[in-house]
Amino acid sequence: MAEPGQGDGPWWRKAVIYEIYVRSFQDGNGDGVGDLAGVLSRVDYLAALGVDAVWLTPFYPSPMADFGYDVSDYRDVDPLFGTLADFDRLVAALGARGIRVIVDFVPNHTSDRHPWFVESRASRDSPRRDWYVWRDPAPDGGPPNNWRAQPDGPAWTFDAATGQYYLHSFLDRQPDLNWRNPAVRAAMFDALRFWLDRGVAGVRVDVLDRLLKDERFRDDPPNPDWREGDPDFMRLRTVHSADQPEILDLVADMRAVLAEYPGERVLIGEIYQPVETLVRFYGRALEAVHLPFNFNLMWLVWIPEGVRLLAERYEAGLPPGAWPSWVLGNHDQSRVASRFGERQARVAMLALLTLRGTPTIYQGDELGLADTPIPPGRERDPFARAGPAQGRDKVRTPMPWDGSRHAGFSAAEPWLPVGEANAARHALGQEAGPASFLSFTRAALALRRREKALALGDWRGISARDGVLVYERRLGGDVLLVALNMRGTPGRVRLDGPADMLLSTEGPAALRAAPADFELRPDEGVVLRPRAAGPG
Ligand code: NOJ
Repeated sequence: MAEPGQGDGPWWRKAVIYEIYVRSFQDGNGDGVGDLAGVLSRVDYLAALGVDAVWLTPFYPSPMADFGYDVSDYRDVDPLFGTLADFDRLVAALGARGIRVIVDFVPNHTSDRHPWFVESRASRDSPRRDWYVWRDPAPDGGPPNNWRAQPDGPAWTFDAATGQYYLHSFLDRQPDLNWRNPAVRAAMFDALRFWLDRGVAGVRVDVLDRLLKDERFRDDPPNPDWREGDPDFMRLRTVHSADQPEILDLVADMRAVLAEYPGERVLIGEIYQPVETLVRFYGRALEAVHLPFNFNLMWLVWIPEGVRLLAERYEAGLPPGAWPSWVLGNHDQSRVASRFGERQARVAMLALLTLRGTPTIYQGDELGLADTPIPPGRERDPFARAGPAQGRDKVRTPMPWDGSRHAGFSAAEPWLPVGEANAARHALGQEAGPASFLSFTRAALALRRREKALALGDWRGISARDGVLVYERRLGGDVLLVALNMRGTPGRVRLDGPADMLLSTEGPAALRAAPADFELRPDEGVVLRPRAAGPG
């Protein structure tokens, strides 16, 4: 039970994390692509928003086959994004505003242009051959087994010069490293230290559950839930190509590298799993992932009963002492406002910021940005080849900052279109309006900072009916209630007594008295402080 007098624990428990997709945040040098200098020019926006940490997507040297998730040097900055000096300046400027920097660590695969892979591929006798996963062809000359890559096709590519296949869980230009080789571990842990030495507060580890594969390379079984139209790579259950139990020992070693540094550096894992299996990644003695990203809100049927049940299953499954995580959007998934509509997206944002745990906000969700249709011929994401639904460009379009050309993102034509609808939602315009999405998000973040119960208190579902979800956050004797109307029609809230309304998704003008029985507007969420004792 959370008590107010206890220490607050590590900084990342109270923190709100903000994902910056660097290519699309702000262009600083006029080439149409976002960069570190661009982020630097927007640190005051981040400070005014009120986030505690930013996660920067990969800015390392890369041929950009997967827009930076194909790293060719783990210890530098790609010239497209700037220099190491730009990075240091950014860390300092954010630090001066109390904002920490989390970097993306991409350990599962490198670029095929990484010198390690070039050397590995050169010959079967190369000292780095075993740094990647090479196998002989099957007896019929085909791939060694049935594993599939994302977005589609076999996870193996034949290298004619050396007569073997190499493994790639993603594009053929992203060969998987062999994490069973101690030399790979040592080299990658050193890469991690390189950034920790530069003052980063932690890492977000890309596809963490994929690092180890079945040692016997057995075929993955079919996925009985796969339906026509589902992504090709979901045809199989990745029981052998990913998610091996030994991963926890490997992650514990990675955690130990972070523990060499002071200041409670955080280890966040990108793991797409249901809460029941996700919670294993905390490790047996909470020695593995600090925050396994919990993406499960994203696919939920958005009804009060669904959110309540998910939160209850999650809370029940967390090992004692483990801290929850919540995510609603990122650079790979459809925008919240496109899934729910702009009004309901505010309710979802309030849920994200008031469920128990560390929330991660994707850039632009605080403006209510929607998916942007990409005109034919302007697609950039290689995943689009697997079908338009899989293309991720629509969620990676540039941030709209003001009403000027290219929405203030760049002086040049941006690498992806800003999109008319998103251009109209620019930050400058929203700053002026007290009832805007941005003003609401800022107010919610400020309230979370002020009211410790929202950040650290226990969570308990109170009621889920008629489209309205009510839950409480409790820290010692301090109780706050959150009521979310998840429908586009008015909804009733019944409490044990009257309450003061501290926040509404509709803005300060909507704040009103909340008697024991009151009505929420369509798509409205509120935070309340009960006047008497909390409901029983
Ligand atoms: C997850 C990243 O978020 C995604 O953008 C990338 O394509 C894959 N991992 C491969 O690195």
